[in-house]
Amino acid sequence: ENTLGAAAAQSGRYFGTAIASGRLSDSTYTSIAAREFNMVTAENEMKIDATEPQRGQFNFSAADRVYNWAVQNGKQVRGHTLAWHSQQPGWMQSLSGSALRQAMIDHINGVMAHYKGKIVQWDVVNEAFADGSSGARRDSNLQRSGNDWIEVAFRTARAADPSAKLCYNDYNVENWNWAKTQAMYNMVRDFKQRGVPIDCVGFQSHFNSGSPYDSNFRTTLQNFAALGVDVAITELDIQGAPASTYANVTNDCLAVARCLGITVWGVRDSDSWRSEQTPLLFNNNGSKKAAYTAVLDTLNGG
Ligand code: G3I
Repeated sequence: ENTLGAAAAQSGRYFGTAIASGRLSDSTYTSIAAREFNMVTAENEMKIDATEPQRGQFNFSAADRVYNWAVQNGKQVRGHTLAWHSQQPGWMQSLSGSALRQAMIDHINGVMAHYKGKIVQWDVVNEAFADGSSGARRDSNLQRSGNDWIEVAFRTARAADPSAKLCYNDYNVENWNWAKTQAMYNMVRDFKQRGVPIDCVGFQSHFNSGSPYDSNFRTTLQNFAALGVDVAITELDIQGAPASTYANVTNDCLAVARCLGITVWGVRDSDSWRSEQTPLLFNNNGSKKAAYTAVLDTLNGG
């Protein structure tokens, strides 16, 4: 196959990208995205500040621009993200306790109702664990509303749209030896044991010199899959885009039956939140990089 999406589909997987609504008028961008990818994540447009800028007043205009572009171009959509400490609108930042808890529930219900039956995977909760060696939850207004906020979010989401796979999504959880990885593993194991509805774990996979790729990523994916959840690589970018590392990550997903697919966090380097690291598969002018060829060849069986 000669596109990433078609090559990934040979093994029943997808290959996706983040899409920014502000770039949909750029024909170089849209022609690459339409050709190569078969899964779309809205880079910012489905986040809390975008979809509920005033409490109880939902706004899906930017989110729907991304969603409609995806569907009109034959792609599926991952939803990102319903409960997160970051990119909260001002009204939510100022809430705490039971009022915040109710606002979180109302937000999940409002967004998931709008997209009911239309989103294959939702990142229900994003980035709830602390960086570093503590293995603790990240401090946030959501965390201070009670340690059970994550499971409440997942139970709410399951009831709101039973057709969506419900994912927990985080970064710096790819290396099996990291405390954050172990903390996330313990949470997912606990959820599965107690019947909290969780279907998938998203590994963002923002690799750079501070958080390098390690070959034990495959072990991590296997260990989570063994808990009875699907896994996905949800926001992949790699500093300098070394072809060999992109191939290794691709092989790690292919090696794990429950790895649903790979999403890169943007199209061209110039579209990246870390554009100075040139971490993506296409050059600023839209040409294919060596990393692109490495991923495509790997998906095609090496
Ligand atoms: O749209 C406004 C614009 O109107 C304003 O003038 C400008 C001034 O700063 O800001 C623009 O919004 C920016 C937005 O991206 C759209 O470009 C925000 O400031 C900026 O903070 C925001 O950054 C996004 C970041 O999440 C926010 O946390 C990045 O694009 C996005 O790639 C990044 O994505 C996250 C994932 O959601 C979660 N995992 C990590 C990943 C990388 O940080």
